[in-house]
Amino acid sequence: MKNGIPYSKIIGTGSSLPAKILTNADLELMVDTSDEWITARTGIKERRIASDGEFTSTFAIEASRRALEMAGISAQELDLIILGTVTPDFPFPATSCIIQHELKATNAVAFDISAACSGFVYGLSIADSYIRGGMAKKALVIGAEVLSRIVNWNDRNTCVLFGDGSGAAVLELSTDDTGIMSTHIFTNGAFWDTLSQPACGNRNPASQSVLDNQLSFIKMNGNDVFKYAVRAMEEAACTALAANDMVSENISMFIPHQANRRIIEATAKRLGLPEKNVFINLENYGNTSSASIPVALDEANRGNKLNKGDIVMLDAFGGGFTYGSVLMRW
Ligand code: ACO
Repeated sequence: MKNGIPYSKIIGTGSSLPAKILTNADLELMVDTSDEWITARTGIKERRIASDGEFTSTFAIEASRRALEMAGISAQELDLIILGTVTPDFPFPATSCIIQHELKATNAVAFDISAACSGFVYGLSIADSYIRGGMAKKALVIGAEVLSRIVNWNDRNTCVLFGDGSGAAVLELSTDDTGIMSTHIFTNGAFWDTLSQPACGNRNPASQSVLDNQLSFIKMNGNDVFKYAVRAMEEAACTALAANDMVSENISMFIPHQANRRIIEATAKRLGLPEKNVFINLENYGNTSSASIPVALDEANRGNKLNKGDIVMLDAFGGGFTYGSVLMRW
């Protein structure tokens, strides 16, 4: 309850990852890299890669079904579906329309949002507002990506970092004092060019020149991203704590965007969080952009790492730059 209005609350989580595993040893055969370098610089050991015939919607639908099953509600009860993704099945229609159709969620309005790795946290912020404002009763928020199709597999600077998959959460109005206590989302568009997919929008539509210049692949200045990410994630976390009169000692589980172990450890250190309260699974999946937080949340949830009443913080950072936090009493 905040300002006389009940919280919204996550009542089910789900995730879905491709079966195909690409290890650091596999990458050693593809580009000039080593397991030692990737492990030391990123913490990543392997990542999941979509096979032919598997798309962003494939994993999103499976993750959603699992979240709905845990929530114990049918898809027809949903009135809102939000998908965060930068790798939609098509530029249009929105991939969430495909998801709505496949789930038979005929009563739900569905739309995609583009906030890169912050997509799930942005989506939660919107769904929380809709539910608390009375515009939706039951919402599904999904983060899903097939980044492997926009990664340049000849570029060792980026190809070792990313993976595919999806995570999802179902929300409704809370009937007790558990639920989302605050969401804070931020944008700094001055850095839009630091991390991007330069082509396949209307500035550089698909063409032979786009292919020749490899413009359809992820372009990133890793060092700039790294420095900004740590500061931004600290700011998002501290803003949430201050808004709720809390300190970092109150946080039972910190679930950050899984981009790089060094980014997570630097952020946790600035916040004074002990290792046991920080959830990390990036060694298995790499950076799955908008999917990383909901996959981690689902693993923490199903792994019984979240107890009723625990204070849980989600903390995201992504291209745009976008960033933000969600503070919940579980
Ligand atoms: N294997 C071996 N060597 C490599 C590899 C690789 N896969 N990639 C880069 N190198 C080399 C570089 O060529 C460079 O060599 P040089 O000194 O001879 O030029 C050297 O390693 C050091 O490169 P740096 O870029 O300085 O390495 P850094 O320690 O910064 O690590 C990294 C690079 C991992 C990308 C880091 O900057 C990072 O994690 N940045 C954050 C970016 C990120 O996480 N992006 C994901 C998307 S953003 C998001 O999710 C928000």
